[in-house]
Amino acid sequence: MIYFFKKTFVFFFFIFCSYFIYLQINILLSSQINSATLASSYADKNTQAITPIPVKQNLNKAIVLLGKQLFFETRLSKNDTVSCASCHNIHNAGVDGLIISAGIHGQIGSFNAPTVFNSSLNFKQFWDGRANTLEDQIDGPINNPVEMDSSWSEVIEKLTASAKYAKLFKMLFPKQGITEQSIKNAIVTFERSLLTPNSRFDLYLKGQQDAITKNEKKGYQLFNNLGCISCHQGVNVGGNMFAKMGVIHDYFADKELITKADLGRFKITKKNEDKYLFKVPGLRNIELTGPYFHDGQTRILKSAVQKMAYYQLGVKLSEKETRLIVAFLKTLTAKVE
Ligand code: HEC
Ligand code: HEC
Repeated sequence: MIYFFKKTFVFFFFIFCSYFIYLQINILLSSQINSATLASSYADKNTQAITPIPVKQNLNKAIVLLGKQLFFETRLSKNDTVSCASCHNIHNAGVDGLIISAGIHGQIGSFNAPTVFNSSLNFKQFWDGRANTLEDQIDGPINNPVEMDSSWSEVIEKLTASAKYAKLFKMLFPKQGITEQSIKNAIVTFERSLLTPNSRFDLYLKGQQDAITKNEKKGYQLFNNLGCISCHQGVNVGGNMFAKMGVIHDYFADKELITKADLGRFKITKKNEDKYLFKVPGLRNIELTGPYFHDGQTRILKSAVQKMAYYQLGVKLSEKETRLIVAFLKTLTAKVE
């Protein structure tokens, strides 16, 4: 009996060892595969990690247009000077290009303005994710004393006094009329229309191999290999999780001026583990949406990429690697369609 067990054990041990050696040989071989094959195999493997923006959406066109008017409507602010578009210029990739946004009476806020393009693809809104939906997000700027400094009752009163809006809402929201919900519905419908599909990278993901160049493919490969993709992923190349700013090196220790906004999600949850946690921003149109990071302290995309590699991954990128990653990131640029 014991002899039998010994024999089976030796047999299985032999099989285990052979498999182990087989695996090692495989790893050795695959590490010698040249970069061209690696690049294409990555493109195949990671079609799940980043997905193309859907091209078709079923949005009510008339409501989109009403939402657009409201997005440009200064009467949403207390003294009729500030609209959503003041800080989210839709002719400038949905941003204001400022380090920190300025609101009513030119007052300076706390954060860099993220783009409204593709924001409907994010799992939560704001840098610290404090709004779960685009609808909830709107309460922020309307009531914020340094942004629009208004209230829903003031907004509804002003819009109701306008013959243009009275007519439009009667037509498009016959049951509701002008309410907080119908105003939000229209603005959010407009925001949902601000998708930028068909970037060159999306065409590549859909199988058009020559939509991006060899260097851009190398940049994508670096983005994968270094681990950027572990946070910047999904349809918006980000926007689907929180992550700490400064996973490997302390970003905030290196900063001259610390603000409350730097605490990130901690400000909302008051949990220690949420200190310095931010929503991972989407990287679509990133070449156009600087300055970068929640504090807008980084002007150039190249420096943002180098800082990410250093603070998040502990890697000092060479000039060449940085150039390749930036080249890849620029393939994510596209127009609203
Ligand atoms: C004074 C400038 C300003 C105005 C006015 C303004 N925003 Fe913003 N917006 C910002 C800033 C700054 C943030 C980031 C704030 C934060 O994360 O706490 C932001 C965040 C957002 C976000 C979240 C995007 C994301 O990826 O997290 C959306 C959506 C948005 N704004 C839409 C609007 C709409 C709609 C209006 C009008 C009702 C509006 N904003 C008015 C500056 C402004
Ligand atoms: C651990 C998660 C994580 C990794 C890994 C990571 N990022 Fe980020 N990335 C973030 C977070 C979080 C932010 C926002 C930080 C902030 O604003 O304070 C960000 C911001 C950025 C921004 C600025 C976006 C904007 O709108 O301002 C760029 C560009 C960027 N990352 C590129 C990269 C690149 C390239 C890599 C790989 C070298 C990388 N990231 C790796 C989480 C990550």
